[in-house]
Amino acid sequence: MTTAACPGSFDPITNGHLDVIERAAASFDELVVACTRNAGKHDLFSLEERVGMIEEVTGHLGNVTVASFDGLLVDFCAERGVRVIVKGLRAVSDFEYELQMAQMNGRLGEVETLFLTTSPVYSFLSSSLVKEVARFGGDVSDFVPETVARRLTARLAP
Ligand code: PNS
Repeated sequence: MTTAACPGSFDPITNGHLDVIERAAASFDELVVACTRNAGKHDLFSLEERVGMIEEVTGHLGNVTVASFDGLLVDFCAERGVRVIVKGLRAVSDFEYELQMAQMNGRLGEVETLFLTTSPVYSFLSSSLVKEVARFGGDVSDFVPETVARRLTARLAP
């Protein structure tokens, strides 16, 4: 049985993330969505809130679980016997950073990183942009699941 991890900060989860999670879940026996803080980003939602939203919108996927972690992703993977990390790649601009992380994780632990290319319909989406749109009162309902859109509006709309 192969378990893969789909890591990210998911602040908040977008339809692009969900697309990658659904496709990864279809490719592995078990998938754990691993949510953590990204030290380089400012949090809008707490880790608990983010995990809650991910649980809500992945509830239809029987082989998906959600967990949060602090520290290194490779340590999280080692603790759970996970050998495969799945990440989504939107554009060439993602590649350099993702390649660096994949190679560093490969040096730090016994993990293989596999990339799924983002569906073209979501290639422009990011949590940061969605937050910016919501902050200025824009409609984000095409970009995030309904429950996330409601929370974004409640937290950010002017
Ligand atoms: O969704 P993001 O913010 O692009 O995800 C980045 C994330 C959280 C996957 C990355 O920052 C991470 O793995 N953080 C955990 C700490 C860690 O292991 N750092 C070394 C990565 S090579």
